[in-house]
Amino acid sequence: MRSVKGFNSGAACLAVAIIMVMQLLEEAAWTQELPPPRIDEEIIKQEKIYRSSGSDVPRGYVTDRGLSDYAELLPAGFCDALGNLGSSDRWLDIGAGSGQAILDYYAPQDNSASRKTCSSTGGKVRAVALSIEDRRTDQWRDLAASLRDERLKYFSGKRLREYSPEELGKFQMITDVFGGFSYTEHLYQFVDKVLSLLEVGGEFYTLVPGVHLEDGKDKLGILYLTELEDAAGRPEKVCSWLKKTACAEVTCESKHDWKRPTELIKIRRVCSDTSVPRMKLLEFEAGYPPARRFQLEQ
Ligand SMILES: C[S@@+](CC[C@H](N)C(=O)[O-])C[C@H]1O[C@@H](n2cnc3c(N)ncnc32)[C@H](O)[C@@H]1O
Repeated sequence: MRSVKGFNSGAACLAVAIIMVMQLLEEAAWTQELPPPRIDEEIIKQEKIYRSSGSDVPRGYVTDRGLSDYAELLPAGFCDALGNLGSSDRWLDIGAGSGQAILDYYAPQDNSASRKTCSSTGGKVRAVALSIEDRRTDQWRDLAASLRDERLKYFSGKRLREYSPEELGKFQMITDVFGGFSYTEHLYQFVDKVLSLLEVGGEFYTLVPGVHLEDGKDKLGILYLTELEDAAGRPEKVCSWLKKTACAEVTCESKHDWKRPTELIKIRRVCSDTSVPRMKLLEFEAGYPPARRFQLEQ
């Protein structure tokens, strides 16, 4: 009896062990079939989007928005602020694509058109366009060559963070329309760099789509593109994170009725010692713009 009983419990143990091994094998096969997207692979895919040309440029990757689009997409006050700059001031457009917004700003306008395109400015500022890939057009080359004193510059071939302070200099105005702010995988370093390039009193105008809105009015069922969490894993909003930056005055306009909940952001540098709360990248999925998740450090 004892031996039969011993045999039965041994067989039961063996059966349980076999089931557990089979479950583990099944799980391993499942994870092999569906590997989690790896950040470095996604960054390679993202690089292909930047390098795309001609008919390979994805339809949603828009690189030629004009100044009137900037006026619609950037926070209120952008046109007035641009109009108030003098001819010795400098404007940096990060993620400028073909630089169409700067071309429009320099184009001669009649008064009715200028109100719509926000180019009714007096003196023309010195403008710098920055793009990872070179998307200059003949129109850009012709205009840049026709202006004395290198008033228009176009930098390409690297990311904002790779430029030294001397290469770029300082700016009264920095804009970013679906550029590095929406695309970078180094978000806090990006903002830190932008602030370092602003004169004290200078302003950064940007937007970020697919985020949890400051006013909390996002609709249900949204696919978010940029998500933040605090060190304990609790959700954090882009605006509440930015508002913890030292020497920066941040204002946000929440757009809950846009296709994606979007925050229009203006940051004014108010003193020299800027410091942006640090964060690390947790997830990245290539796209236009990409999907990103970051965690704030303690
Ligand atoms: C979708 S296009 C937008 C172009 C333009 N602002 C417009 O609205 O038509 C994205 C631009 O951001 C640039 N970009 C993305 N990340 C960047 C970074 N970290 N530094 C500089 N440029 C960046 C790309 O090279 C490209 O010029």
